[in-house]
Amino acid sequence: MSLPMTLDQMIVPMTSDHLPQVMAIDAQCYPIPWSRDVYEAELARPEDRLYVIARPGQLVGHAGVAFEENEAHITTVTVSPDCRGQGIGARLFLALALAACRRNTSLALEVSADNPAAQALYRRFGLAPVGIQRGYYKNMGLSPDAVVMRADNIQQPDYADRLIKIAVELDCA
Ligand SMILES: CC(C)(COP(=O)(O)OP(=O)(O)OC[C@H]1O[C@@H](n2cnc3c(N)ncnc32)[C@H](O)[C@@H]1OP(=O)(O)O)[C@@H](O)C(=O)NCCC(=O)NCCS
Repeated sequence: MSLPMTLDQMIVPMTSDHLPQVMAIDAQCYPIPWSRDVYEAELARPEDRLYVIARPGQLVGHAGVAFEENEAHITTVTVSPDCRGQGIGARLFLALALAACRRNTSLALEVSADNPAAQALYRRFGLAPVGIQRGYYKNMGLSPDAVVMRADNIQQPDYADRLIKIAVELDCA
């Protein structure tokens, strides 16, 4: 599918108004989805959080990042099951990575050890496995272990070059 939109047209900040659609997608994707209260608390912190939605038409995905002292920590990247494999996840991640490299020197996240699609997406953005957190997803209905993935030096020119290359590949430069 061709998505001839700029990143800014397709990926826009999440607001409370989006939460019913965001939570409907989460309900299809996660055994224990975030509650509305969790989202509202995150959206109430615009100084150190960024949440975005993808809307090539209707809302089909969302993602978030927490800007912490030493790193930008990805909190979620989620695409509606029927819209995957079209580069929506990459576009969401690109928006977060662009924001992260303006504020932090590292980008990090935890991902289920059983989630090859997400790990492939994060590798594309230069994140590499740096450890395992045993039992991270215990009692969440997922494989219990998380792979910690990380990219350092994201303020260096070669990381900006990587993001530009991805934007060109996605036709949203
Ligand atoms: C991870 C996720 C956000 C990706 O969204 P998407 O819109 O399909 O992502 P894209 O189309 O941009 O790219 C997906 C990548 O995964 C790859 N992929 C898809 N299915 C795969 C699989 N079963 N095994 C390995 N790689 C896979 C694609 O080839 C692509 O990699 P590439 O860019 O190197 O070709 C989506 O699968 C999702 O929402 N999963 C459920 C929620 C989740 O687990 N989120 C991650 C939490 S850490």
